[in-house]
Amino acid sequence: MNEKKDYIAVFDSGVGGISVLRHLIRQMPGERFLYFGDSANAPYGCRPTEEVRALTLTAVGKLLSEYPLKALVIACNTATAAAVNDVRAAHPELIVVGIEPALKVAADHFPGGRVGVLATEVTLREEKFDTLLHRFDENVTIYKIPAPGLVELVEAGKVDSPETEALLKTVLGPYLGQLDAVVLGCTHYPFAKKAIRRVLGQDVVLLDGGEGTARETRRRLELADLLENGPGEVTICNSSPDPDMLRLSRERLTQED
Ligand code: DGL
Repeated sequence: MNEKKDYIAVFDSGVGGISVLRHLIRQMPGERFLYFGDSANAPYGCRPTEEVRALTLTAVGKLLSEYPLKALVIACNTATAAAVNDVRAAHPELIVVGIEPALKVAADHFPGGRVGVLATEVTLREEKFDTLLHRFDENVTIYKIPAPGLVELVEAGKVDSPETEALLKTVLGPYLGQLDAVVLGCTHYPFAKKAIRRVLGQDVVLLDGGEGTARETRRRLELADLLENGPGEVTICNSSPDPDMLRLSRERLTQED
């Protein structure tokens, strides 16, 4: 039986999901959050889908065996695209919320506009994204923009380095002056917003799914009468043997927008 005081687990391939955790804490400050980043296996976004599915199911199984959980937020677009259905099927007792690229927000705000979706290769090639794309591609022109290497830079703490800016220039260069908005479809990318804005210019609106995912999590907990109003607590865990990953994770938690 799930209890209000149980944890809300937040899972990502690494430090990226902390961009979602920040919204979750803002919207539900009285909850106990357990963040797990699988940095030992990051990046997920360039792996075969089967591998991402297996890594996700293993991580979720481990979390459930070690902590009492009332909900799981898959704060990783890649893991959601590859494995959310399998996670739900394997753990029907658990509230499971997955993040997806914020295309609806983009289509609502820019009818007739041009929208880039910056995401991992896995997210952009999965059927889940195609289904999402076809819901909105009559209203907006959508460009799929993979950004190989960007997750690795964020994992290394290089959220605003010359290397990061150079990679973004290569990836976004062909779209300069052609976009109204860019959906950050990977939870690592909001941490590189400063560099992304510098490359794209201030007129291009950046959107991500963090706030909507936190809203949906709150709605589901409220519906199940599982919202807690305690002192609030955040525990951060990481699979990497490098102790620096925990320091980097805490740095991301307090990074200014
Ligand atoms: N943060 C994950 C996402 O939202 C992906 C990172 C990775 O490639 O591991 O897609």
